[in-house]
Amino acid sequence: MTNLFDLTGKVAIVTGGNGGIGKGIADGLASAGSDIVIFARNEKKTAGAADDIKKKYGVKVLGLQVDVAKEESIQNGVKQVLDEFGQINTLVNNAGVNIRKMPEEYTVEEWDWIMSINLRGAFLCAKTVYPAMKKARSGKIINIGSMTSLYGLARVMCYGASKAGIVQMTYTLALAWAKDNIQVNAILPGWIETPLTISARKDFPGLDDYVLDRVPAGRWGIPDDFAGAAVFLASKASDFVTAEYIKVDGGFAQGTNTVHPSAP
Ligand SMILES: NC(=O)c1ccc[n+]([C@@H]2O[C@H](COP(=O)([O-])OP(=O)(O)OC[C@H]3O[C@@H](n4cnc5c(N)ncnc54)[C@H](OP(=O)(O)O)[C@@H]3O)[C@@H](O)[C@H]2O)c1
Repeated sequence: MTNLFDLTGKVAIVTGGNGGIGKGIADGLASAGSDIVIFARNEKKTAGAADDIKKKYGVKVLGLQVDVAKEESIQNGVKQVLDEFGQINTLVNNAGVNIRKMPEEYTVEEWDWIMSINLRGAFLCAKTVYPAMKKARSGKIINIGSMTSLYGLARVMCYGASKAGIVQMTYTLALAWAKDNIQVNAILPGWIETPLTISARKDFPGLDDYVLDRVPAGRWGIPDDFAGAAVFLASKASDFVTAEYIKVDGGFAQGTNTVHPSAP
C-alpha cells in the first residue's frame, strides 16, 4: 500500500511559518517530504527557520518576505512560488496577531489590523493560490482558527471575531471549490506555548494555572503538536475530508464543558 501521508514532490506555503505553530506545521510537512515556502515579514527569523528546515529534512525551502495584510505582497509571493516550483499543493493560512483588551477599548485601527491579517489575509492567500490549484485539479487549504472560533473570551473580541470567521470561510471555500478537488479544512489550536501566549502569561498572572487546570492533557501545547494534523490535512489521507475542523487542544474544548478529569 502506498504511504497515504507521503508529501514528496509537493509544495506547501505556510504563512507565519518562521516561528510558533507555523514552524511546527512547516517542520511536520517537511518531515513528510514536502518542499516549504514561508510567507512572513521578519526576514531574519524567516531565514533562520528556512535554514533549520533545510538542514533537518533536506527538502527545498524558500523564505519570502510577504505581508498577508497587503494583496500586492501576496500576489508577488505567489508568483515567485509558481516561477520557482511551478505548483502549489498546500496553503496553510497560519499568520495571526492578537491584541487583548476589553471590547469598549478597541480602536477602529486595531480592529482593522487584526482582521486584515487573521481573516482578510487568509481569504486573499486562498484567492491568490486558487487559479493554480484549480488548473491542477488538486489542492489542500488549511486555515488556522482558535478556541475563540467556538467560544467567547472577554478580552479577545476582534481576534475571536476573526477566528470565528475563519471557520465560516473554511466551510464556504470547501463547498465552493469541492468541484475543483480542493479540500479546505481548519485546525483549531488550544492553549499553545508560543510568542503569542508568552506575553499573555506575563500580562495575566493566573493564566498558567487556569490552562494547566482546564486542559485535560495537563500541559500547554507545543508547535510540534501540530505536525500530525497538518500532514493528515495536506495528504491523500484526507481526500474525502473537507469543510471540517480538527481541535488540537489536549481536550480543552470538551474539558471546559465537563468536569475536570482530576475531579473526584
Ligand atoms: N498560541 C496559541 O495558543 C494559539 C491558540 C489559538 C490559535 N493560534 C493561532 O495560531 C497561529 C500562529 O500563532 P502562534 O501562536 O504561533 O503565534 P506567533 O509565534 O506570534 O506567530 C505568528 C506568525 O504570524 C506571522 N505574521 C504576523 N503578521 C503577519 C503578516 N502581516 N504577514 C505575514 N505573516 C505575519 C509572524 O511572522 P512575522 O512577524 O515575521 O511576520 C509569525 O510567524 C495564529 O493564527 C494564531 O491566531 C495560536
